[in-house]
Amino acid sequence: MKTAVSVVFAFLSVIVFSTVAFAKGPSGKVLFQKNCASCHANGGNMDNPEYTLHKKDLLKHGVRTVNGIVGKMRHPGPGMPSFSKQMIPDAQAKEIARYILKTFNK
Ligand code: HEC
Repeated sequence: MKTAVSVVFAFLSVIVFSTVAFAKGPSGKVLFQKNCASCHANGGNMDNPEYTLHKKDLLKHGVRTVNGIVGKMRHPGPGMPSFSKQMIPDAQAKEIARYILKTFNK
């Protein structure tokens, strides 16, 4: 009986957890596909191949952290449109940045 109860509990917490995660809004991946992938498909860079989102390029250009990537979105270099807080609020910008660091980590 105890086991049954804990199994039910485990299930419930998974459901609660995923609902909470969902309520936060679109994931970094979805936001990336929507806003960035047109130029940065698969972490590349269609306009300037020296500036991909892969770790080695980011490091070369001093972009090392979530805040570094968010900073880039707010104040980009030539050829990249800027993304204001109105377009992409900080929380979502950070989701995108975390997705980039996690996904293109080579
Ligand atoms: C219209 C094309 C375009 C779009 C859309 C775009 N970028 Fe860029 N991105 C560029 C170009 C061109 C550069 C190189 C110039 C520069 O450093 O800003 C760049 C550079 C970067 C860099 C620095 C890469 C490096 O190696 O130093 C990051 C980080 C970045 N973009 C993130 C993003 C994110 C996040 C989004 C979506 C919110 C995005 N970009 C959308 C064109 C784009």
